[in-house]
Order: sequence, then structure tokens, then C-alpha cells
Amino acid sequence: MSIFKKIVTYRPSFTVRILTGLISMLILLSVCTFIGLADRTRLNVRATEFDARSIEAGAKVYFDQCARCHGPNGEGVEGLGPALASEQFVGRIELVRDDMQMQSIKVVQPSERIKQIGWSGTLEDYIIAVTEAGIPIKTSNVWDVTHPTFSERLGGPLRGDQIRNVASFIVNYGLNPLPNDQALLPPAPGEGMAPRPTPVPLTAEQEAGKQVYLAKGCAACHAIRGVGAQGALGPNLTRIGSVAEERIASESYKTNLKDQPPATTAAEYIRQSILHPNAYIVAQCPQGPCQAGLMPQNYEQQLTPEELNNLVDYLSSLK
Ligand code: HEC
Ligand code: HEC
Repeated sequence: MSIFKKIVTYRPSFTVRILTGLISMLILLSVCTFIGLADRTRLNVRATEFDARSIEAGAKVYFDQCARCHGPNGEGVEGLGPALASEQFVGRIELVRDDMQMQSIKVVQPSERIKQIGWSGTLEDYIIAVTEAGIPIKTSNVWDVTHPTFSERLGGPLRGDQIRNVASFIVNYGLNPLPNDQALLPPAPGEGMAPRPTPVPLTAEQEAGKQVYLAKGCAACHAIRGVGAQGALGPNLTRIGSVAEERIASESYKTNLKDQPPATTAAEYIRQSILHPNAYIVAQCPQGPCQAGLMPQNYEQQLTPEELNNLVDYLSSLK
């Protein structure tokens, strides 16, 4: 029998036939996956083409919709939202020109955060996914709020193109990210679920001051973590007891204070901020630079001396 005939009439055993079938399947599958992946990478490159106009439009969406929880500079706001401009979140990118003279984004250092949470797509896809559909349950008790859904499809205020623009704007922070120690980083998955430490109970006067804060409409413009309505026109007051000390020690306070004697204690600073809001204008508010003349100027008439004392006592206790 010639070799040729042997091959033609070869009848492999059942096991061999199954094995050969399986192996060819595997080879076919890996080829498909490889082609698929190569295609994905190509798509990603196209998706991250640098588009200055979309970034500009995204900045507006960011300040309208995201800054109150993520901070005017993407630095994060305690209790309300993590940093989105941190090196941990955006990594580092560079702009490069390809052979076609198209400007595109090159990832120099990938986002650590998406690695940490096990997201396998791009950073941009992650931002789009969270913005569209929100995060329906709090991943950690360090946040007082759950993530809003922004997609029009889900009853939110933003169209698809606006969501893609705000994602480009955030990815673009990677050109000049905030150092991690200047940003409010989110807890790693599984961290921060322990119950919060019991807050130091308020004294009767401080409790009364908290009621003044709520009754006099301060919460329409300010936010205090865990306390009622969350305004976003004035600075966040969650840590105003400590912030007040930083303010009076700052150069900006010493040079810019007008018509009032400089406060020497946190309580004096807070009292001054309430009675003479325009004496010193804080630099950063959630929607950008703070506006003079926005905070009512007549609290001296609106509050009794006792209400004012209690209010100042309450705010000074927030550290
Ligand atoms: C009401 C407050 C609030 C608003 C408004 C808000 N966010 Fe968030 N955002 C959060 C909180 C809280 C988290 C963390 C939630 C969690 O992990 O459970 C978060 C997380 C995120 C994350 C994931 C960050 C990470 O490190 O994993 C992205 C991306 C994000 N927000 C984008 C946006 C964008 C874009 C907007 C504006 C269109 C926006 N958010 C508006 C509160 C807010
Ligand atoms: C209409 C909006 C509005 C209302 C209402 C309002 N504020 Fe303000 N507040 C602001 C703005 C804007 C600033 C920042 C500009 C400035 O420094 O005057 C500010 C600044 C402050 C500061 C200084 C914060 C800092 O970080 O240094 C304190 C304290 C403060 N407000 C307390 C109060 C209290 C207490 C009430 C209620 C009795 C109140 N505000 C009502 C808008 C408001």
C-alpha cells in the first residue's frame, strides 16, 4: 500500500477526531479574538483623537453639571464626589501628531483607578458609562449621595454628544493632572464600608445654630456634608471650622480684606463672613470663582444676637 493510499484511507479513532475538532476550534477562536482586539485598538485611537472644540463644549457641561460634586478643578468634594483630575484617575497623556498630521492623544501613563476597579475598556468609556447611567448604589460610605444618571434616555439632562464632550474634557486633565496629594481620591474597592465614626454630639447651642442654618436659607447656597439640601453657589462648609483658620492665616486674606478689622479666630472669621460677606471674597466656589454680592448682606437684621451666636458656634464646630 502506498503512503498516499494510507493517508486517504486513514480512519482516525473517535477520540482523535474529537480532539482535532476541538483544537481547530481553539485556533479559530484565538484568531478571531486577535483580529477583534486589533480592531478595538484601532477604534480606540480614533475615539481619542484630540478635538479642541469638543473639550471646550465639555468644559461647559462640567461646570454646569459636575463641578458641584467633583470640584471646580476636578479636585473632588468631601462627601459629594471623588477627584476626576487626579493623576490616579486620569494618568498622564501627551498630544502627538501622526503621519497624517492629525493630533491625537498618547497615553504616557494609564489610569491607575480603572485598573484598580478592573475596568477593561478605556478611561473615556468608563467616564461615559458612569455619566450616562450613574452608580446606582453607593460603593462606599464616604459618599453622602448616589451618582445621578445624566443620559436623556434615562431621564437625565444630557444628550449623548454632551456626555462624550464632558468625557473628552476630563480625559484632557491628563495633560496636566493634579498631584494625588492635592486631590480627594476615592477609596479602593471594598474600603470605606465601615460605619462612619459617630460625630461628636452637638451642644444645645450648636444644635440650635444648625436649625438657624437650615431655617435661614443658608443651605440654598452652601452644602454641609450630611445636612439637608446641598447648595452649590457658595463654598462647601463641611469643614468650615478648620477652613476658617486656614483662611485667616492666608496671604490672600491679609491683602484682600476690606473695611473690616482682620479676624483672629475661626469664630470671628465666620461671624465676619456672615455679617460682612463682601469684606473678603473667597477665591473658589463650586461653579468657579466666587461672586461678590451674591450672599445676602442683611443677616445683621435677619438674625437675633442669640441666633447669630448659635450659628457661629455650630459652624465653628465643623472641622
Ligand atoms: C450629586 C453629586 C454628583 C454629581 C452632580 C456628579 N457626580 Fe460623579 N460621582 C459622584 C460620587 C458620589 C461618585 C462616587 C460614587 C461611588 O463610587 O459610589 C462619583 C463618581 C464619578 C466617576 C467615577 C470616579 C472613579 O474614581 O471611579 C466619574 C467618572 C464621574 N463621577 C463623572 C461625573 C460627571 C462627568 C459628572 C457630570 C456630568 C458627574 N460625575 C456629576 C457624585 C456626583
Ligand atoms: C445666595 C447665596 C448665599 C446664601 C443664601 C448664603 N451664602 Fe454664604 N456665601 C455665598 C457665597 C457666594 C460666598 C463666597 C463669596 C464670599 O466670600 O462672600 C459665601 C461665603 C460664606 C462663608 C465663607 C466661607 C469660606 O469658605 O470662607 C461663610 C462662613 C458663609 N458664607 C456662611 C453663610 C451662612 C451661615 C448663611 C446663612 C445665614 C449663608 N452663608 C447664606 C453665598 C451665599
